Amino acid sequence: MLATMLLALTQQAAAQTPPKQTPQDLVDALRTAFGAHHARAVHTKGVMLEGAFTPDAAARALTKAPIFAGGSLPVIARFSLFAGIPDIPDTDAGAPPTGLALKIKAKDGSDYDLASDQHNGFIVATSDEFAEFLRDVGASGPNAPHPTAVEQFLATHPIAKTFLASLTVPASYATATYFGINSFKWTNAKGHPTYVRYQYLPRAGEHYLKPAEWKARRPSYLQDDIVARVAREPVAFDWYAQIAEKGDKIEDPSIAWPDSRRRVKLGTFTFTRLPRDAAAADRQYMVLPGQPHAGIEAADPMLLLRNKAYPISFRGRQ
Ligand code: HEM
Repeated sequence: MLATMLLALTQQAAAQTPPKQTPQDLVDALRTAFGAHHARAVHTKGVMLEGAFTPDAAARALTKAPIFAGGSLPVIARFSLFAGIPDIPDTDAGAPPTGLALKIKAKDGSDYDLASDQHNGFIVATSDEFAEFLRDVGASGPNAPHPTAVEQFLATHPIAKTFLASLTVPASYATATYFGINSFKWTNAKGHPTYVRYQYLPRAGEHYLKPAEWKARRPSYLQDDIVARVAREPVAFDWYAQIAEKGDKIEDPSIAWPDSRRRVKLGTFTFTRLPRDAAAADRQYMVLPGQPHAGIEAADPMLLLRNKAYPISFRGRQ
């Protein structure tokens, strides 16, 4: 009990000032960086799979959320490249980190949405800094004089510089680990809180490409691979909660928690097929990554902003 109180106090003390940039500002900044088009403002090129989520009983010690009560539930997933460019080659520098969005259809008709990407930690600490970074990317085209705005940004943001230098590229969407990055507060049936971050580990094992191997791949190798793969075998990921300890940053997604933190297996996602109408499914699909549910609430303000920004981008493609 004392440990829980201390943890809560540490986390309160770290509370950020409220963001100045609005969700609309963030979507506009994404369009400044990647261009305006009637598709997702970011993570634009993607491919969807359908399947099921099977919960693990261990999750019930952490949250009372009904999706963990037992029994399989339908899931729709979308793998994507990072950039907001519809026809970007999978081998372009703007492709990583690749993303994984998940939508679990609960028995009561509600959606449990998750959005993760392949790097353990976000490029910056806050949505305000992300807006600044995106605008600097937009101002740093091929004809911009050096140091460009983005070069100047990176010179003063060492975490962002390290982030860009350490991105990996997967051999397949099915062979990357994905990270939820932002923190959640989970509450179990006894009212006990736990701060968690999500991780999704590939059943096919991790397999990343060396730069020369990557550049030699076809422009849609990730999409081609996952379509062929799911036709011959299930594509599966185990979902884990990484558990915060005292002093771990709850509201700063740019700082990963140590790998030594305890992980609890929450269940398994198993994908077995493509949607019947892929283009319609892609247009209609939208995740709300900060949506609260019984036993699950956002603990990082970035999630609340993301929850308002995604529908703005969604409306742009209807
Ligand atoms: C302030 C920070 C962020 C902003 C403003 C933002 C904004 C957006 C927007 C506008 C979309 C398009 C949504 C749509 O049109 O349906 C999107 C998609 C996505 N974002 Fe973020 N995002 C942020 C942080 C993150 C983080 C931290 C992650 C990973 C943990 C992430 C992962 C994704 C993924 C995987 C998608 C694709 C969703 C899909 O496939 O439908 N984003 N983001």
